[in-house]
Parts: sequence; C-alpha cells; structure tokens
Amino acid sequence: DPYSLLILPGDGIGPEVMAEVVKVIGWFGTHRGMSFDISQGLVGGASYDTHGTPLTDDTMALAQSVDAVLLGAVGGPKYDNLDFSVKPERGLLRLRKEMDLYANLRPAQCFDALADFSSLKREVVAGLDILIVRELTSGIYFGEPRGIHADGNNPGNEGGRVGINTQRYTSGEIRRVARSAFELARKRGNKVCSMEKANVMESGILWREEVQWVHDNEYPDVELSHMYADNGAMQLVRRPRQFDVIVTDNLFGDILSDAAAMLTGSLGMLPSASLGAPMANGRPKALYEPVHGSAPDIAGKALANPIACILSFAMALRYSFDQGDAAADLERAVETVLAQGARTADLMGPEGGTPISTAAMGDRILA
Ligand code: NAI
Ligand code: MG
Repeated sequence: DPYSLLILPGDGIGPEVMAEVVKVIGWFGTHRGMSFDISQGLVGGASYDTHGTPLTDDTMALAQSVDAVLLGAVGGPKYDNLDFSVKPERGLLRLRKEMDLYANLRPAQCFDALADFSSLKREVVAGLDILIVRELTSGIYFGEPRGIHADGNNPGNEGGRVGINTQRYTSGEIRRVARSAFELARKRGNKVCSMEKANVMESGILWREEVQWVHDNEYPDVELSHMYADNGAMQLVRRPRQFDVIVTDNLFGDILSDAAAMLTGSLGMLPSASLGAPMANGRPKALYEPVHGSAPDIAGKALANPIACILSFAMALRYSFDQGDAAADLERAVETVLAQGARTADLMGPEGGTPISTAAMGDRILA
C-alpha cells in the first residue's frame, strides 16, 4: 500500500524547505521502492490569498484522511494586520484541534559536528538522542475554572484581584498520551521516563498512577521510570543522555521541550510531530513540521536550512510508516554532510566559512 501524504508548504521559507523534502521523498521512491500517494495543499497566508481562509474545509478533510501531513510554516508580515479569525496561524491551529493531536513530539538530537552549538559542553551532549512527548490538548492551559476575578472577601489582598487556572487531567487523557509514549519508545530505546509533580499536585498523583497502569497492563516490555519534573529539568541539563522518551503534561512539556531544544543548537535543525488517535489502519493521526516559523527575514534568499523539515520527514518515516531503518539512513545522511562541513548560513560558527544554499544542502543530503 502506498503511504498517503498531504504536503502543506505554507508561507515564507516553508515552500523553500519543503521543496528539499519533496526531493528526499522522491529519492526513497526511486532507491528504496517506497510508494507515496502525495497531495499538495495550501495553508496559512498562501491559502488566505487564494481562498480567503487560512485552511479550506476540503484541505481539512484531506488532512483527516491521509497517513501523515507535512507542514512547512505559516505567517508573515503581510498577514499581521488581518482579522484574528483568518490569520495564518489559525490554519495550523484548526488542523491541530480538529485532528485532536494530543501528543506533541519534540526530539533533541545532537549531531556531533554541531555539538559546539549546544548551550552545554560537548561531552554532555555528543550523541544525544531523546524525545519529549508533551500532552497538548488538556491540562492547565485549558482547565476550568479559569479567569481573573475580584477577590471580594479578602481585605488582606492588595489590589483585590485573583487570577485562576486549573490543572485538570482525566485518566483517559493521561492513558492515551502514555500509550503514544510507549508506542514511540518501542521504535527507539524502549525506555520511558514520566515527569510530573506527584509530591505536590493531585493531577500529578493521577498522572503517575495512570502511566504506571498503562505500562503494567499494556507495555510491560518497556522500561518505565518516574521523576519529579523539577528534578527532570535538572537532569536534562546535567546528564541528558540518561533519557530516551520523556512523557509529561502540557505545562511541564512546554518548558522542558524548549530547554531540551537548546541542548542541540540551531532552530533550523529542530523537527517536531503531533500525533492523535490511531486510525483504522493502526497509524496515528499525524502532523509533522519543523519547529521554526516562516522566517520572513530570510525568505526568498535561498538561505533557509532545510534540515528541520527533512528531519520532520524522517520522523514520519519512523513513527507513521514504520520505516525506522530508512529514517536512520536519512538522519545519518544529515550527520554525514554536517561532518563534511556543509553549512547553511544559520550554522556558521564564529570561525566563519562559506554557507551553501537551501537547495545545495538538500542535494548534499541526497548524495
Ligand atoms: P522564525 O522561526 O520564523 O524565525 C526566527 C529566526 O530564526 C529568524 O531569524 C529566522 O531567519 C531564523 N530561522 C528560522 N528557521 C530557519 C531555518 N530553517 N534556517 C535558517 N534560519 C532560520 O520565528 P519568528 O521570526 O518569530 O516568526 C516569523 C513568522 O513565522 C511569524 O509570522 C510567526 O507567526 C510565524 N511562525 C510560524 C510557526 C509555524 O508555522 N509553526 C512557528 C513560529 C513562528
Ligand atoms: Mg514554548
């Protein structure tokens, strides 16, 4: 069966980096006999320009039906003054919401040639390859009650107001993201560390119990450990290679994944994925995208680094198509060209050198 893909290049450097991914996909077709059924669509400003909306119902329906969506980036100064309801990012938000993508995957992978870009010492990060799975659709960013209120009967409160958010997780929400993490771990190092603060939070106690329940009943073959999230933050900086997959809630995941991103260096290198429930064919609903945005400051200049988008496709190979060997080959190709010194402008260190173009980087990786 062919793997069905919807490609949404989007705005700014999105189409530039996606053009390199399309070459990579073609290579796997020609040289590995993989068969892809590819559709292309518009999202963000590009869709607004043509259709007056950042995502059409047709494109939304297509996204729901394919094995994986690959997205470039959306947004740009041209659209900054649009009404909120048609802003480019609304297209991306609609995709995430209607596909119910509750597991956000942020790998932190350190290529040896770029270890000196890390915020940490080379010996701490060389060879690092971890994956943070952040719950994305619930928790304190969504829980009720919430709001800013008059703090009526509290005369001791200077200013007289109170701001409220509620951390709320159901067992079902925890179990489904735990399942995602265990499934992913089986395709990697078979190890999951769950992070919460069960020492001070009820939702943390439930989180720990439910993750343990999913482990004991469904994934006893995967090694599971638990860690308080504050200790997790410390361990990520102290000895990050002790981890394989980290699963955590929306708030802790937001913070821990940004910290982990800086273990590896440039924004132009960081892939991501968002997964939802398994579809009829067993594959999860999936959206793969680079972490970076549309980079209007360098758009149209052939300066963009395509690696984040290419590594996002490698994630699709591994996590949507069960092509872990192909994914590893692609990652090794990236590693090799970096080791050979190929650098886009964003990867130039203080020692300088001559950067290569977006297309040249894609071609080097293919070669
Ligand atoms: P950005 O990620 O687009 O750019 C930040 C800086 O990193 C810029 O200097 C840019 O040139 C550089 N950069 C980013 N990706 C790069 C790459 N692949 N190669 C080389 N350099 C790269 O974030 P910014 O500037 O805050 O936002 C620009 C636009 O992108 C805005 O309209 C924003 O709303 C949108 N955006 C979209 C996202 C998405 O589609 N998921 C995520 C973040 C921002
Ligand atoms: Mg963040």
